[in-house]
Amino acid sequence: MEALLQRLSEALGPQAVLRGEAVRERPVSRLVQTGCEAGALVRPASTEELALVMRLCHEAGQPVVPRAGMTGLVGGTMVGPGEIALSLERMNRIEEIDPVSQTMTVQAGTPLQVIQEAADAHGLLFPLDLGARGSATIGGNIATNAGGNKVLRYGMTREMVLGLEAVLPDGQVVSSMFKVLKNNTGLDLKQLFIGTEGTLGVVTRAILRLQPRPRTRQTVLAAFPSFEAVATVLERMRAGSGGSLSSYEIMWRDYYLLITAPGRRPAPLSQEHPFYALIECEGSDEAADDARFQAVIEPCLDEGLILDAVVAQSEAERTDLWRIRDDVHYLKTLDPLFVYDVSLPLPAMARYVTELRQALERRWGRATLIAYGHLGDGNLHIAVSCGDKSAKAEVEALVYEPLKAFRGSVSAEHGIGLDKKAYLGVTRTEAEIALMRAVKRAIDPTNILNPGKIC
Ligand code: LAC
Ligand code: ZN
Repeated sequence: MEALLQRLSEALGPQAVLRGEAVRERPVSRLVQTGCEAGALVRPASTEELALVMRLCHEAGQPVVPRAGMTGLVGGTMVGPGEIALSLERMNRIEEIDPVSQTMTVQAGTPLQVIQEAADAHGLLFPLDLGARGSATIGGNIATNAGGNKVLRYGMTREMVLGLEAVLPDGQVVSSMFKVLKNNTGLDLKQLFIGTEGTLGVVTRAILRLQPRPRTRQTVLAAFPSFEAVATVLERMRAGSGGSLSSYEIMWRDYYLLITAPGRRPAPLSQEHPFYALIECEGSDEAADDARFQAVIEPCLDEGLILDAVVAQSEAERTDLWRIRDDVHYLKTLDPLFVYDVSLPLPAMARYVTELRQALERRWGRATLIAYGHLGDGNLHIAVSCGDKSAKAEVEALVYEPLKAFRGSVSAEHGIGLDKKAYLGVTRTEAEIALMRAVKRAIDPTNILNPGKIC
């Protein structure tokens, strides 16, 4: 590795190749605060420089692990001493905003929040949104096909990428930088790099699809008597909101209790209800949107589908309501903690959670199960604390095995990385996994790019 790093340092400049303490002082991830163990961290400043890095690493058989904002939750960027970590943090520019095509051309290291704010400043919306927006970068979002809080309206990251440029494991640049929505010309090759966790190529630039910036917004936190009521109100919001429903985030009571415990977030609604949901609509009709929203919510209150509700009256109140949903870091107060990100059909969700809780309690007596998530996407986040650090595999089996029968997924939006590899077979068939491996072999025959991740 030494000779290779020397060559890279000569070709790219010493600021592009970090060693020793400069690598160690970076954390493994936001979850794991110990120092990064990579043999070196290489920071190219352009696609051409990255192409050279990959060509030389390919020739030397040197494994490379791309990393981005380090907000991932599945070990997709785990890197060892024999590997080089790769960061595109010096490629962090917005190259163009085109209001007529409604696109933004960005370099992969640009933080998500910078992109959101730039779109907003141009009267436009980049609709990908998640709690880690300040640290996550668009390259990481694309490589992991990030989901987040508005998927039910705008889809996952995949839906927002019109054009893409990536560098292959051998240093070839594959460029498909189109602004057009329609481009039906054979294999959609950019999909090779979206959601594949940096195993097939390194995303360097992208052309993102923007939307008109919403002119109206209604945000409500509501309390519900049952899961059925939460699901019924979702249906009514979908049907009655004129297509403006953008978020529908469910919280089981234990989640609400955790976040609104003394000294944490204030509780805008009393803590006795079994279910809560944060509901948001974003529309364009200033004259009608508020009234239409009320026309859905009020009958729900009258009929007892919603027991209590608080509507945000200002941007500050809206932010406070969203923090109840987004301040998931309070989960870390549970230790040991195992977290999961599953999806399953909506009608099966309540039963799944109830049966999982029963199974955990049967096994460990008192176990904490905290469930919340993106109901409109059939996506649950589950945190389990059973007081036993060594129980990881046992808890995993209880969480994942039932998903098979429900036709659910062991990862809804967080990806596979290293942490979920063992359970890929719950969701994917043997033929599918064999095909994934064949694609990997075809594109990265020497297995140098993010080796060992996914499958
Ligand atoms: C969330 C992250 C964990 O939705 O996906 O809170
Ligand atoms: Zn999520």
